[in-house]
Amino acid sequence: MDGMSAAAKPATAVVAGSKVPRHVGIIMDGNGRWAAARGLPRALGHKAGAEAARRTIEAAGEAGIGWLTLFAFSSENWRRPADEVQDLTLLLRHYLSHEVSRLVKEGVRLRVIGERERFGPDLLRAILRAEEATEGGTRLNLNVALSYGGRAEIVTAAREIARRAAAGRLDPESVDEECFGSFLGTAGMPDPDLIIRTSGEQRLSNFLLWQSAYAEFVFQDVLWPDYGASHLAAACGEYARRDRRYGARAA
Ligand code: IPE
Ligand code: IPE
Ligand code: MG
Repeated sequence: MDGMSAAAKPATAVVAGSKVPRHVGIIMDGNGRWAAARGLPRALGHKAGAEAARRTIEAAGEAGIGWLTLFAFSSENWRRPADEVQDLTLLLRHYLSHEVSRLVKEGVRLRVIGERERFGPDLLRAILRAEEATEGGTRLNLNVALSYGGRAEIVTAAREIARRAAAGRLDPESVDEECFGSFLGTAGMPDPDLIIRTSGEQRLSNFLLWQSAYAEFVFQDVLWPDYGASHLAAACGEYARRDRRYGARAA
C-alpha cells in the first residue's frame, strides 16, 4: 500500500461531523451460521439477530445517523423452508408488538419497505400500527425492508408509470430519474451513503439496487448476531476515509 492507505489517513476524519453517513443500509447476514457454530437451531440465530438489530438501531441514533435501512427479509427468502419462514414471521410479529414503545422513546420513526401484503392481514395490521405509533419520531428514520427486492421494486414502479401514461395521466417525457424515484418504496428518502454487509459475503442480494448507485460498500467479517455499536463505528470510520467523487475528477 502507498502512503494514502486508509490506515495512514488521519483519525480525525473518522469523527468529523460532515463525514457521518446520512443514510446507512445494512444487509444483516449470518444468523444461520451463527446458530450452526453453536449447535443451535437457526431460529435462535434469528432471535439473536433481532437483538443485534435493536443494539444497532440504538447505536445509529447515538451516532447521529439520520436514516437506517435494515434488510430483514428478501423477496427471495420466501424460497426458504416453510418452518424457517414461519419462525421469521413469528419473530417479526413479536418485534412489532414489543419494540414499538422503545422505538417511540428513542425518537425512531419506523417504516416498512417491500411487499408487505405477502405477510397476510394480521402482520399487515401490526406493521401499520407500528408505523402510525412511531410517526412522530424525528431522531432516526428506520426502514425495515421486508419481502423486499430491488428488481421487484423497480418493476412495480415501471408498471405504475406505464399504467398512468397509458391512461393519459402522465407524460412519458416527464419521466426522469427524480420522477422514477418517486414511484419507489423509498420515495422522498435520501439515497444510502453507506451499505454494510455482514458475514463476509460480498454481494447485494437484490438490496436497494436503484438507490445504491453511488453508495460506498463496507463488508464486515462478523456474523450479524454478534454485531453492535463498535462494528457500526468501524464501518462509519471506513466510510469517512473514502473519497466520493460521483464521476468527477479527483480533487
Ligand atoms: C440473515 O441470516 C437473515 C435472513 C436472511 C432472514 P441468514 O439466515 O441468511 O444466515 P446465513 O447466511 O444462513 O448464515
Ligand atoms: C440477504 O441475505 C437478505 C437478508 C439479509 C435479509 P441472504 O442470506 O438471503 O442472501 P444470499 O442468499 O446469501 O444471497
Ligand atoms: Mg444469509
